[in-house]
Amino acid sequence: MLDVEALVIKYGPFLALDGVSVKVGEGEIVGVIGANGAGKSSLVRAIAGLVPAASGRVVFKGQELGAEPAYQRNRMGIALVPEGRGLFPRMSVEENLMMGGYPLPERQRMAPNMHRCFGLFPVLRERRHQLAGTLSGGQQQMLAVAMGLMSEPQLLILDEPSLGLAPIVIGEIGERLKLLRASGMTILLAEQNANLTGNVTDRIYVLQTGRVRYHDRPEVLFKMPEVAESFLSI
Ligand SMILES: Nc1ncnc2c1ncn2[C@@H]1O[C@H](COP(=O)(O)OP(=O)(O)OP(=O)(O)O)[C@@H](O)[C@H]1O
Ligand SMILES: [Mg+2]
Repeated sequence: MLDVEALVIKYGPFLALDGVSVKVGEGEIVGVIGANGAGKSSLVRAIAGLVPAASGRVVFKGQELGAEPAYQRNRMGIALVPEGRGLFPRMSVEENLMMGGYPLPERQRMAPNMHRCFGLFPVLRERRHQLAGTLSGGQQQMLAVAMGLMSEPQLLILDEPSLGLAPIVIGEIGERLKLLRASGMTILLAEQNANLTGNVTDRIYVLQTGRVRYHDRPEVLFKMPEVAESFLSI
């Protein structure tokens, strides 16, 4: 479904991604793990069309995205749940979900999509009139994921959903991701949290200073001493 080939991203003279290739097949959950500054956000933002590539290609469903702007990529089926969640804190849960559904070509799909989100995250239904900024951290992250789902993506990209959350809440997010995958969703998960990523993904790319250093199934990867040492302590 997604094929990132030799992607290079530069911020001025600074090389943030140095030829990164990542593939995500239909129905897979693929992880990208890396420490602070490894380039995870740069990668997912480039896939979503939020940062330009210096070179390389992003191919989605057989089509090279080239200079397609972010809103167009969203319409084509790519939704990014950004690092830091990207909520509208002074709007209600329901209004946030409507913002997430904004790219939909037909307004009448808003209600059934919201219904589906409430099915996956019942707490959002209970709190649908509450301001997003007053939710707990875990509930805010669930709302951010639900906002991404409102646009009916074929590829859901999550940038560090575990950020700032307690382990038990991170576990809950992981369970919802598994449910989503069971429903057929394709997911790319960028994370520092190796536990979460190892629990839910089929394959993982390990990013170090802008390059893919390792790539394998989690059960193989975390047996490698050099990977275990860097990530399993976090
Ligand atoms: N807008 C920018 N301008 C200049 N440098 C940037 C910019 N955004 C990111 N960088 C740099 O690019 C590198 C990769 O950053 P990126 O945010 O992609 O990493 P990350 O893996 O998402 O890190 P984190 O875990 O902290 O979110 C870092 O060295 C960062 O300082
Ligand atoms: Mg990041």
